[in-house]
Amino acid sequence: MKLRIPDNIEAITPYPPGKPLDELEREYGITHSIKLASNENPWGPSPAVVRALRSELLGLHRYPDGSCYKLVQAIAEKLGVDGSEIVLGNGSNEVIEFLVKAFVTEGDEVITSHPSFLMYQKFVQMRGGINYIVPLKDMGHDLGVIKEMISEKTRLIFLDNPNNPTGAVIKPVDLYTFLSEVPESVVVVLDEAYIDFVDSSLQVDIFSLIRNVEGRCPVVSLRTFSKAYGIPGLRVGFGIMSKVIAECLHKVRQPFNVNQMAQVGALAALEDEDYYQGTLDRTQKGREYLSQEVGRLGCVAYPSHTNFFLIDVKGNADKLYEAMLYKGVIIRSMSAYGFENCIRVTVGTEEENNRFLGALGDCLGELGYV
Ligand SMILES: Cc1ncc(COP(=O)(O)O)c(C=O)c1O
Repeated sequence: MKLRIPDNIEAITPYPPGKPLDELEREYGITHSIKLASNENPWGPSPAVVRALRSELLGLHRYPDGSCYKLVQAIAEKLGVDGSEIVLGNGSNEVIEFLVKAFVTEGDEVITSHPSFLMYQKFVQMRGGINYIVPLKDMGHDLGVIKEMISEKTRLIFLDNPNNPTGAVIKPVDLYTFLSEVPESVVVVLDEAYIDFVDSSLQVDIFSLIRNVEGRCPVVSLRTFSKAYGIPGLRVGFGIMSKVIAECLHKVRQPFNVNQMAQVGALAALEDEDYYQGTLDRTQKGREYLSQEVGRLGCVAYPSHTNFFLIDVKGNADKLYEAMLYKGVIIRSMSAYGFENCIRVTVGTEEENNRFLGALGDCLGELGYV
């Protein structure tokens, strides 16, 4: 075979896919496992979403609305922006891809942090762009070093705020200062996938940031229906940005990138205020409970502004991950992110949190970590 694989594609490590739950259970000989590994909403989708999806099934012989008119309008109204300032994607993942496609060509530079959400760097590699990766400082983005890395060739800066996997948030005052110092030619992307869980005093005014761009760098905010809105399986996310940037992104997207069920489900999710608020309240309670109880077990939970925690377990995280699996509790080891002794765990239902704590206590004892 004379297949020619470009160097930049050869160099990409595929996103590590998790095994299906039933497959994992078979492999480890377990049943009734709980998954606290992907920062999902543990309470299931809103019943209103399920009803809306059911009633949409008979329309599947038609193509979806390529402009996602109803969903765009509903989001715009809710957030107080114009529909022309919203771009929807097949998950916010796809909006990340649009940004890279629209602004990065071979040899262009993009700055990201390590560790942070993995997909930024992969999309840049696919385009033949160059990743400049800045290590986190004190578990947060090192804005000083990021600023120093900016060159004539820098096109994008990705900041997940809060950061995945640490859960840390950038202080608004630091972010405003940083943004005022970035050149006008660089687009700063604030990935706000977990913003719903962040205290309002720590959120920046994204709407003035996308509009008042005179003499300052453009800013894009990324949001998702996969976390607080509870529908990652439908794949819907969106970006909020100036109309000029939105027009560029529309040029690189497929005409029907958000499918019909996703549009209908997201609209129903957006309208179900009670479900959304309930998720935030329960997550907040679970967060407080878990951080306190994990401390009692001798581990350290880093302060989190999200629906997950980075936890220092004081011993090898891969071994703990494996031991927890045998007890039917699926979490993430963060060793691949450079945190050898840390796991990441999603806030679950009350029952799941207690099961996690029970298994963690047992495993820490068995492995002799505390
Ligand atoms: C920081 C961050 N950004 C983006 C995403 C992608 O979300 P979506 O499901 O909308 O593609 C995730 C998913 O976990 C994430 O953690």
